[in-house]
Amino acid sequence: MTDTAHVHAAPDLKAIQALAAPDMTAMDALIRRRLASDVVLVNQVAEYIIGAGGKRLRPMLLLLAAGALGHHGSDAHQLAAVVEFIHTSTLLHDDVVDESDLRRGRKTANAVWGNAASVLVGDFLYSRSFQLMVELGRMDVQQILADTTNTIAEGEVLQLLHVRNPDTDEAAYLRVIERKTAILFAAATRLGALLAGADAATQQALHDYGLALGYAFQIADDVLDYASDAATLGKNLGDDLAEGKMTLPLIHAMACGDAATRAELRRIVENGDLDGMPVVLAAITRADSLAYSRARALDYAKAAESALAALPANACTDALRGLARYAVSRDH
Ligand code: IPE
Ligand code: IPE
Ligand code: MG
Ligand code: MG
Repeated sequence: MTDTAHVHAAPDLKAIQALAAPDMTAMDALIRRRLASDVVLVNQVAEYIIGAGGKRLRPMLLLLAAGALGHHGSDAHQLAAVVEFIHTSTLLHDDVVDESDLRRGRKTANAVWGNAASVLVGDFLYSRSFQLMVELGRMDVQQILADTTNTIAEGEVLQLLHVRNPDTDEAAYLRVIERKTAILFAAATRLGALLAGADAATQQALHDYGLALGYAFQIADDVLDYASDAATLGKNLGDDLAEGKMTLPLIHAMACGDAATRAELRRIVENGDLDGMPVVLAAITRADSLAYSRARALDYAKAAESALAALPANACTDALRGLARYAVSRDH
């Protein structure tokens, strides 16, 4: 089997979930317990978005990284919940910024309760995550999460600076997705190593794995925004173009298009021309930009797998390899 075929092989997500299930169940119970507030609207909105599920990928990565190094415990459950709270708070804020109205198969919180409630409950989840974090009393953990959340905020602002800018190139795109997405994956897997008492090299390996996986995951997300359907994705398609977001498929189509195509795409991006989708899709098809983007995602997934080379051989390490492949073969 070639390397590529190996990475293309559909991972057995059910088996991975089953392996992580005891820790994930404990984490989920903790999330439920620690979501509570005596302010009714906080409970309503937080329950609404957390109860809708989501893939819970980041906490699973933290728990599997710790598990690969032989560590299972309540501190890992608590940090996994912290990571999921941080992620969920960024989604509440992101849907306001992106003016999205479908998330996890439901209307977004901003569509139901408005922007103010979404932003404020996002702040509640974010600060609740820090309450949970400090309970662990570990300065090394606090350092990583303080840096990570600050970087995510920078990534979101950096992305804002590129909105409706047709000159955004692949390098600029990669700088944005590293900060807004990949860094949280890196923190999740690194924190798993830290809790397991791993040495610096192993912590770095799991950081590198998470970072590469995060890149792969966001590129795949940006492909799905052009190539899936809303029922499967649980989000609306075309949100990125509607918001003037320059993601990899569009950047590639622009770079490969002839002068007329480039001029037309430029106009669509600059003016936020909502009727431009068929033109954009045609350009993306002509340049085979989804295949190009998937190939780039696959490169990152392979890099993620390679970063695991020195980890102990066990079921959790195998599951981490499987999740690298899942990030690029998923349909939602
Ligand atoms: C959505 O993340 C935001 C991105 C970084 C693309 P997920 O796709 O992990 O969202 P949920 O938690 O499963 O809903
Ligand atoms: C990811 O970007 C957002 C965060 C990292 C908060 P997107 O805007 O692509 O995420 P979706 O598609 O809305 O989930
Ligand atoms: Mg969004
Ligand atoms: Mg998206």
